[in-house]
Amino acid sequence: MRGIMEPAQQKHIVLGITGGIAAYKAAELARLLMKQGVGVQVAMTEAACHFITPATMQALTGRPVLINQWDAAENGMAHIAMGRAADAIVIAPATADFIAKLALGLADDLLSTMCLARDCQLLVAPAMNRQMWGNAATQRNVAQLARDGVDILGPVSGVQACGEEGMGRMLETEELAREVVVFLQSRSSVGRASARQGDVGLKPDLQNLSGVKMIITAGPTYEAIDAVRGITNRSSGKMGYAVAQAAQELGAEVTLISGPTALHKPHGVQAVDVISAAQMFDAVQQRVPAADIFIGVAAVADYRVAQASAQKIKKSDGNLILELLPNPDILAYVASLPQPPFCVGFAAESENLREYATAKRKAKNIPLLAANLAQQAIGADENELILFDDAGEHVLPRADKLTLARALLQHVAKLYKDRL
Ligand code: C5P
Repeated sequence: MRGIMEPAQQKHIVLGITGGIAAYKAAELARLLMKQGVGVQVAMTEAACHFITPATMQALTGRPVLINQWDAAENGMAHIAMGRAADAIVIAPATADFIAKLALGLADDLLSTMCLARDCQLLVAPAMNRQMWGNAATQRNVAQLARDGVDILGPVSGVQACGEEGMGRMLETEELAREVVVFLQSRSSVGRASARQGDVGLKPDLQNLSGVKMIITAGPTYEAIDAVRGITNRSSGKMGYAVAQAAQELGAEVTLISGPTALHKPHGVQAVDVISAAQMFDAVQQRVPAADIFIGVAAVADYRVAQASAQKIKKSDGNLILELLPNPDILAYVASLPQPPFCVGFAAESENLREYATAKRKAKNIPLLAANLAQQAIGADENELILFDDAGEHVLPRADKLTLARALLQHVAKLYKDRL
């Protein structure tokens, strides 16, 4: 079968490496991409050569590494042409300095010249210290790149090379490789889902959800008490975002309606950011008539404050009594529509998992419910799911959340198709 990626060896990227400590991860990134059949031409800044040697990158990719613009001039600008011929230029890691150059359109070395002279999409994976990332100048430059149509992959929050913790870590190499592959696939002229079969090393028995419209809710909701305080649920959004990515990988047209999280949106999904349950409900109501599948992963707050105060409530010695009103059950609403999409719910329980999950599936009248133990799942990178449907239960053993999401989506796709 011919996939969206034409024979994978026909896809080429320029991997641009700039001078930050995360440069050492570029070696692994190149290796992962090549394993997926992507041709990788490395271009490095002079500063990057202090962190990882061109010899390493050349040995891994089997191609001379491009560094010096004056070599390029001697070759009749052949190196710039190489950038033009690529399907994408991927800058990983991208330093604050290089991002600033890109935002200004400077071209004072080979890599920045290739970026300016390119005829393909630019994907940028920032990596820097949290204060450099938080600096207004960097934020302004990143926003400018986004406005210019550049794809910004990450960064994420975590421990940094300098020992500090915060936003600015480069996306993990596996995730980055996946983002690049998904991008290359989505750029092809032939149907997306089929491309994932074969050409880029994914399993050939994957279900295809090409063209299927899917709404996924994710993350917590936040219900304001006053101008600074609120009620929320503990939810990182990781599971919902993994489900969105897995659906997108199968070719679905994904709308991800997300409460506040610190995560970056998976490439290619349509993102709608909300804060409260009421906003999430609104966003779902507007879009659900067109949806084929609805997956509610969000940890929606069950209650909101009857009268949130616009100003901060001053502290006093007395008790503060808040009146809480129940929020609408978004999933139950969608499932009760006259022509509902195929509905999937999530349930996080702290005990009696099977009993509560079975009861919840029935109460919400949904064909499929994925249950997990809250204490194992919240914020963690790994989880374990039990799926409940008309046929009984299916255990998805402990794995990282993206692996679980992919397995869940296989099951969802199969049940969805069986119903058509
Ligand atoms: O009832 P409970 O909150 O445990 O149900 C969990 C499932 O219902 C999840 O799929 C969640 O996204 C969804 N839900 C919802 N709206 C609510 C509460 C839960 O969509 N108000």
